[in-house]
Amino acid sequence: MNAAEKENLNEIDTAIVKVGKKEYEKFKKIPTELFKEINISSSKAQAAWEEAKTQNDFNVFKPHLEKVVELTKKMADYLGYEENRYDALLDLYEPGLKTSELKKVIEPLREFLVDYLAKLEKGEKPDNSIMKRYFPIEKQKELSLRALKLMKYDFDAGRMDVAMHPFTTTIGVHDVRITTRYNEKDLNDSLYSTIHEGGHALYEQGIPEEFSGLPIGDGASMAIHESQSRFWENIIGRSLEFWNYFYKDLVDIFPEFRENTPEEIFRAVNFVERSFIRTEADEVTYNLHIMLRFEIEEALINDRIKVEDLPEIWNKKMKEYLGIVPEKDSEGVLQDVHWAHGSFGYFPSYMLGNLYSAQFYKKMKEDMPMLDKEISEGNFESALNWLRENIHSKGKIYEPGELVKMVTGEPLNPKYFMEYIENKFNKVYKL
Ligand code: CO
Repeated sequence: MNAAEKENLNEIDTAIVKVGKKEYEKFKKIPTELFKEINISSSKAQAAWEEAKTQNDFNVFKPHLEKVVELTKKMADYLGYEENRYDALLDLYEPGLKTSELKKVIEPLREFLVDYLAKLEKGEKPDNSIMKRYFPIEKQKELSLRALKLMKYDFDAGRMDVAMHPFTTTIGVHDVRITTRYNEKDLNDSLYSTIHEGGHALYEQGIPEEFSGLPIGDGASMAIHESQSRFWENIIGRSLEFWNYFYKDLVDIFPEFRENTPEEIFRAVNFVERSFIRTEADEVTYNLHIMLRFEIEEALINDRIKVEDLPEIWNKKMKEYLGIVPEKDSEGVLQDVHWAHGSFGYFPSYMLGNLYSAQFYKKMKEDMPMLDKEISEGNFESALNWLRENIHSKGKIYEPGELVKMVTGEPLNPKYFMEYIENKFNKVYKL
């Protein structure tokens, strides 16, 4: 062992102690009674939420959500914070990130996205109906498996199954399983769920085996995890370069696509739409859905608004950011389960994942000028190796903010995402 290796080992040891201690002390602060109360209230709230959503009646959910919010505020107070009560919750998902920093990222991004969305309307709309024909499930499965193979997902250390809401489960570094879902009338659904979960799985499969079972044997944060899935799903999987290569697999399985060019497919899978449902949103509108939720929950946790006002505030923000207002709360404030779970502070992870992935991609391209060419040749190895070396191999040694700075040379900066969006969607909408 040389000096550098020794130093590296010391760094890892220090991280194990630091991460382990932080986690232990965090939860030690919360009284067992409160934990119990949160668990009971949130399971009741989830049942009420389901009923409220089915009946399209926010009032069914309201008293339960009030209870969950009250307990969450208590928990945040036990966890402690310096500037903002929401910091205590944010830290559970994105360690080290402050609400004030998040707001600074969101402001320019929101302005950009609202303007850009309007600009896209002057462009040429892609024909996305080509992805919404009838596609037999067996054939969709074949296409998804080919995409996973291309990504170098390790099938000897995993498998793919079906689930309503796809997810990734890690049983160990040698067994990382993913699930996908199928919609006979939409090819995007299974293909992109698979690639997304494949991205999560590659991260898990790339965390060093010697970290397993230790506090550092995990992804750096929810958002860094999401940056990996979004990188593969959107930056790679929805790129023209990807379709220039994958087109041959597509027409091999679905010959009807011979009538379309790779470019038409690239444009179809990047169709942008002002829509009500977050989980169905495209890359341009997605972060607006998240900002709206973040602003609501941060105000709620800091007592600036009340639960009873949520439907109205929700609709007002939808109008402001996306220009549309849902007719039913089931398509608005009641659409997500997160608040019933008591998962306040979770939503920003999705947005941060998008932003981190664009910042990583920018650096990756600087390090590897041939990257786009390699992708268009179906060679994803250097992209994966870059992620392995810079992100996966680090496990949870560093807080996400430290990791991003270490990998890209600067803290989280939304400008890379904005550049990425503009560059890509100007092509999609021929602007
Ligand atoms: Co994900």
